[in-house]
Amino acid sequence: MLFERPHLLGLEGLSAEELTFLLDTAESFKEVSEREIKKVPALRGRTVVNLFYEPSTRTRTSFEIAAKRLSADTVNLNVQASSTSKGETLSDTARNLAAMRPDAIVVRHPSSGAPDLLARHVDCPIINGGDGSHEHPTQALLDLLTIREHKGQIGGLTVAIVGDLLHSRVARSNLHGLRTLGARVRFVGPPTLVSPFFADLGAELVHDLHEGVRDADVIMMLRIQRERMTGRYFSSLDEYSRLYCLSADAVAKAKRDVIILHPGPMNRGVEISSTVADGPYSVIMDQVTNGVAVRMATLYVLVGRRRSETGDSLGPGAEGGDGSAPLQRAATGE
Ligand code: NCD
Repeated sequence: MLFERPHLLGLEGLSAEELTFLLDTAESFKEVSEREIKKVPALRGRTVVNLFYEPSTRTRTSFEIAAKRLSADTVNLNVQASSTSKGETLSDTARNLAAMRPDAIVVRHPSSGAPDLLARHVDCPIINGGDGSHEHPTQALLDLLTIREHKGQIGGLTVAIVGDLLHSRVARSNLHGLRTLGARVRFVGPPTLVSPFFADLGAELVHDLHEGVRDADVIMMLRIQRERMTGRYFSSLDEYSRLYCLSADAVAKAKRDVIILHPGPMNRGVEISSTVADGPYSVIMDQVTNGVAVRMATLYVLVGRRRSETGDSLGPGAEGGDGSAPLQRAATGE
């Protein structure tokens, strides 16, 4: 097994080998979703808790489908409507959840660092489903998988990530993953949303959209995250979209075989025109499909491995496997 970490809290610090292993595992799980009966017994009898402190449709559903396709039981906890509103702290919620013996907890939280805190209070794998403006590792993995599928490799590509970089956990996770796998990354947006700090993390900073997407192999558009903004970062949404909305004109500046990504939810007409979102270069629906495979891989790698550690003979590593051909073992529950 090439991924020995107990949790997936972020892509920062993961090696190229670890990233490639997760992507290869995800690729092998894609086939399950093409079957008529979309289920393998890999995590039968395991319980995955989705602990969401922020509204989410896509990510929560994607994790739930992934867990179900691995035969795990899933519990969805929408915490806005629950304990926090009654004054419970995150660490108390964590301790209470841990006492129910889940096998993994997927957590989304408006505060950066919440998944790390949780990981210190429970002894099951924690998967970060997006924390504040910090990281969103499974989103970046599905982006990397989509890019690799379309381009064959990630090393050597130029990737322009455009929009509200300052508040984007998707951009941060992608920056770490893309740089580690050898891509050039440009952060493109108004100076108020592209902090000079990103240059220290290895991004090139560009403030003009047309210049930023010039000769890009990949363009990733980001939503303006109004829910995370505390001040005014541009004079009006109208002005922002005049300068930064990805139109066919801007796309024409990129490579002829450019692909266009967006993590969703999309604000059509604000950061991306409908012509581009629904056009021939868009791979946005492939991202959604790959999201399920990436989350299956993450759950399988983190939870499936623990079976063998706990002496369960059904564990994928029980026969001393090296993590190769996970699907064969997942398919038989071995
Ligand atoms: C992203 C998120 O929540 O950070 N969306 C997602 O996971 N599908 C990006 C966003 O909200 O704009």
